[in-house]
Amino acid sequence: MFAFAFNGFVMPHPEKFLLAGVMGDPIMHSRSPALHNYWMARHGLAGAYVPLHVPAARLQGALRALPALGFAGCNLTIPLKETAMGIVDSIDDTARKIGAISCVTVRADGSLHGANNDSYGFAESLSEAFPAWRGDAGPAVVIGAGGAARAVVHALIQRGAREIRLVNRTFDRAAALAAEAGALVSALPWNGRHAALEGAALLVNTTSQGMVGNPPLELALSALPAQSLVADVVYIPGETPLLRDARLRGLRAVNGLGMLLHQARPAWHSWFGLDPKVTPELRAMIEATL
Ligand SMILES: NC(=O)c1ccc[n+]([C@@H]2O[C@H](COP(=O)([O-])OP(=O)(O)OC[C@H]3O[C@@H](n4cnc5c(N)ncnc54)[C@H](OP(=O)(O)O)[C@@H]3O)[C@@H](O)[C@H]2O)c1
Repeated sequence: MFAFAFNGFVMPHPEKFLLAGVMGDPIMHSRSPALHNYWMARHGLAGAYVPLHVPAARLQGALRALPALGFAGCNLTIPLKETAMGIVDSIDDTARKIGAISCVTVRADGSLHGANNDSYGFAESLSEAFPAWRGDAGPAVVIGAGGAARAVVHALIQRGAREIRLVNRTFDRAAALAAEAGALVSALPWNGRHAALEGAALLVNTTSQGMVGNPPLELALSALPAQSLVADVVYIPGETPLLRDARLRGLRAVNGLGMLLHQARPAWHSWFGLDPKVTPELRAMIEATL
């Protein structure tokens, strides 16, 4: 049998070279290529997952080129997730509710299907970090009202949340998301964010505050009950100032890396029909790049 080496692994001569990637602008910061190429190697596959620098104005042409190039699909990141809604041929229910597409799959007939796996990734990450976590454990406070907040709110509702307090710097954005999401989500003013933590079972930061290069999220945790869980969707740095503050108060905390890792699993199912695992080895490999 023919054999060839790829990513340091020797594998049988492939019938097909598998292709997928991530489109965004900028794109070179993305850890997705490292994550997906790890799985390619672990599964002994011949294939590659590539970073694709695609400004919004070129998204339509880039997505429509995927079938001709033999791509199984791609992920989308900032600022393309919302724009893709007007380009693909079909959209799943979750992406439609969230209003953003994180994963595109090329179907056998060359049509493009859009899904959003961020919500799944967030819920799986919480369950992995806190196996006893339940969506209906008590009020959840979500800080932010952008794309990540929409995915998190959707995940919490899916997991049975009964009360979500949504706080955003720009109140109108929180109010719009709350109106869309239904009666169990209430929008609160930015200056009420500290008091909103009273009696909360879960706090989630979905803003970009605390990310490398940005100032910390200004939030006093003193009103959070001792048994609360704190989650940050940011994962660079691995411990944001918010998570550090939570840890020093003895609260259980998790960063956004699990969300990134777990949202990638359904993408593989849909592109390649495989169900890769999030393992400690994979997590350590990505953490080493942060
Ligand atoms: N872990 C993962 O897998 C994952 C997935 C998706 C996103 N993320 C991360 O989530 C973060 C947000 O992404 P996104 O797509 O939701 O972005 P986005 O749609 O642009 O939303 C940004 C949010 O941050 C808030 N914000 C920005 N600057 C602020 C400031 N100075 N003070 C207070 N709030 C501020 C915005 O409030 P306004 O409405 O007032 O502007 C908005 O709520 C990013 O760091 C991104 O990397 C992580």
